[in-house]
Amino acid sequence: MINGEEESDPVLDSIRKEKVEAGLESFKLVKYFSFSSLAVILVFTLLLSWIISNNARKIMLEQNEEYSLLLAENINQQVFRRFVLPAVIRFGGIALRKPEQYELLDSIIKGVTQGLKIDSVTIYDSSMNIISYSTNPELIGKKDMGKGEYSKALVGIPNSKLTYSGSVLSLMHITPQVECVLKTFIPFRQVRRDGEEGDLIMGVIEIEKDLSRNYTNILGFQGWIIVVSSVVMTILFLVLRSIVSRAGTIIENRAVERLRLEEKLNQAERLAHLGKMVATVSHEIKSPLGIVRSTAEILEKRIKKVAPGNEHLAKIIVDETMRLNNIVVEFLDFARPQKAHFQPSSVNEVVRKVLDFLSHELKRQHIELIADLAPDVPENKLDPDLFYRAVLNILMNSLQAMTENGQLQVSTCRSESGGTELTIRDTGSGMSEDKIEQIFTPFYTDKNKGTGLGLAITKSIIDSHDGQITVHSEEGKGASFTITLPPVA
Ligand SMILES: Nc1ncnc2c1ncn2[C@@H]1O[C@H](COP(=O)(O)OP(=O)(O)OP(=O)(O)O)[C@@H](O)[C@H]1O
Ligand SMILES: [Mg+2]
Repeated sequence: MINGEEESDPVLDSIRKEKVEAGLESFKLVKYFSFSSLAVILVFTLLLSWIISNNARKIMLEQNEEYSLLLAENINQQVFRRFVLPAVIRFGGIALRKPEQYELLDSIIKGVTQGLKIDSVTIYDSSMNIISYSTNPELIGKKDMGKGEYSKALVGIPNSKLTYSGSVLSLMHITPQVECVLKTFIPFRQVRRDGEEGDLIMGVIEIEKDLSRNYTNILGFQGWIIVVSSVVMTILFLVLRSIVSRAGTIIENRAVERLRLEEKLNQAERLAHLGKMVATVSHEIKSPLGIVRSTAEILEKRIKKVAPGNEHLAKIIVDETMRLNNIVVEFLDFARPQKAHFQPSSVNEVVRKVLDFLSHELKRQHIELIADLAPDVPENKLDPDLFYRAVLNILMNSLQAMTENGQLQVSTCRSESGGTELTIRDTGSGMSEDKIEQIFTPFYTDKNKGTGLGLAITKSIIDSHDGQITVHSEEGKGASFTITLPPVA
């Protein structure tokens, strides 16, 4: 007896696991590549946002520097013509300490810069780094405020200094506020008669412009790029993760399915070899068994004469050889299935024949039979002998599963597809889910005298009829077998 409960072998399990993991290995590589490429794209986008904002800052600096240079030239012209020359002529020299001179210069500069977006204009002396004039009066007289930019301008090189602080985080008030100031230092030159600027540098003009708003706009733009690219990357990541996890499950299922198929194939091969062996052995046993049986029958007759009362001994041999012969026939049927000879036949008729055959046994076991064979069941293409075997096997199992006073229901009806449906329901011991999965496996049995081939043979007969067999059962609540045969084409 082969016990149907498969024990889980830890070695086999680990091999199975390894094979599934090997199948998933290449997919894992694709997965990691996809995620790391997302990270690379994100880093690249952030870098790009930094380059763009840096460039924007450069352009802002250049444009404002140009503007300041033009303005400084204008101030230079206006101050020289309208202040320096008249001061020299009228007052004999420049002395900004005198209020009338200071006011004149102040009104000229304010007139030139009125309406322009300028924060302050400061004029440094040429002899020392001291502020002679500024639109911000607090700065007047302060020394060494010009630093290197002042010295550079003094030798004739206009230059600028951009001081800025703050970052994208300043927009969220995490770091100090954004500040950006452009200071442009231009040499204050003497203007010649022809209007051109001469070589003599009389001081340095400093124009200060607050660019905080422009810089805030640039940072805002940079922030937008970062936010948008982060959101896009997050969405991409989530989509990719869901695709990857689905693909992972599909691939894993496929790997498991492939392994199952491989195992089934191996089992089928093993069974085919086993079948061949069983067929050979059964065939070899069958003929001597026949001889033993006929000899025992002769012996039975002779013992009756020689030693009356002992003939039951020979009868035992006859009965047991008959039982053995039945087993051998079943083995042979399984190992070398008979070829089906189809002919239009009625399922109802075959079922009736089987029930007739079992009527005596049903009575003996006090089993109530409820037969409901629908008259509109169509004729099917059947091999009546094989189909008889199939139905008999199922009914035999039902009888074996029931104790006395059970109930057996046998019904036929036209199936939804126009074929025939046969249902056999008993009130026997029933089966667990695990057991149901095994019952069609050859040699699976839980009976002492069973071969475990009954349902395997039944299944192969139903398969050869292009039919289907399904089982519903609950432990302790009986079982129900349904055979569905297709309609005649
Ligand atoms: N109606 C049923 N109720 C409960 N268990 C069933 C029923 N039909 C089948 N089984 C279970 O399925 C197993 C396999 O049945 P199968 O007919 O293939 O072999 P068997 O009856 O054990 O032996 P054999 O039919 O070769 O004499 C049985 O041993 C039994 O445990
Ligand atoms: Mg059986």
